[in-house]
Amino acid sequence: MIMSRINKVLNKRLRKFYFQRQVLKNKNRERIAKKQGAKNGIGVFSGSSILKNDPNELEVNPLGFTKLGLVLDESEVDNIVKALSTFKCFDGYRPELGSFSSNLIPKETQVANYRREDIVSIKEVMDIANDPKILSFVQKFLYGKPTISNVNAWWSVGGRRSAQHAQLFHRDVDDYKFIKFFIYLTDVGINNGPHVYVETSAYDDNFKKIRRFTDDEIVNFYGKDKINHVIGKKGEAYFVNTYGIHKGLLPKEGKRLILQIQYSINEVGVETYKPIEIENDNGYDKYINRLLIK
Ligand SMILES: [Fe+2]
Repeated sequence: MIMSRINKVLNKRLRKFYFQRQVLKNKNRERIAKKQGAKNGIGVFSGSSILKNDPNELEVNPLGFTKLGLVLDESEVDNIVKALSTFKCFDGYRPELGSFSSNLIPKETQVANYRREDIVSIKEVMDIANDPKILSFVQKFLYGKPTISNVNAWWSVGGRRSAQHAQLFHRDVDDYKFIKFFIYLTDVGINNGPHVYVETSAYDDNFKKIRRFTDDEIVNFYGKDKINHVIGKKGEAYFVNTYGIHKGLLPKEGKRLILQIQYSINEVGVETYKPIEIENDNGYDKYINRLLIK
């Protein structure tokens, strides 16, 4: 009885998620986003911010990408890296490797992830996720109060032979509309696995089949000029509409650490959320954080 009820709820989430993935036309996705986003109401967010930009002047259109410059200084980045380093990583594609420290990443691992629940326990990270200017901007983009639907941090490891999974061009199709906020936690040059983004692709109706795309397919269609490699110092941040075509370039050398906060209208139906209790929630909005914090 209980199991069947759980399955029903689970199936409803999955059904919604997979239905959303079948809405291909941008025009239709945007129309649904507007309607659903508006139902979430509007929040008022105030207080100090890491952004120097005025959220009213920020735009993600038409490129699907907004550079925010340096938002954290060296010691602020170091604090987050230090806090993360107390946790173990895992390889999402090789569960048999178990958990390991970021100093001992197995040689076959290309991407070493921290667990969401661990990252959420870091106050500095959740303060960023709930930054008033970030929320104000995201709310404008999503037509209503956002939901933090993911918090991730991962090492991309250099010296591996070939790109795999998210290191190949793809679209994220997580909700009718969503946006990701990224901060580099290590310096990222062209050899250290920069984020690669295809300008304007978030707003066109090409390459809508959900799969990975080869470099040739993308370069031949869009042209080299549209392909943007995001080089940056540690502490630099940017918003990306990753419904647009993107990838993390396979690093040639070094190890790249990045922090990502995802905001969407709805929960991401394939995720298994395990909200945690935290000591000091700094008055975070309960609705926005409901998938992460009890
Ligand atoms: Fe992606």
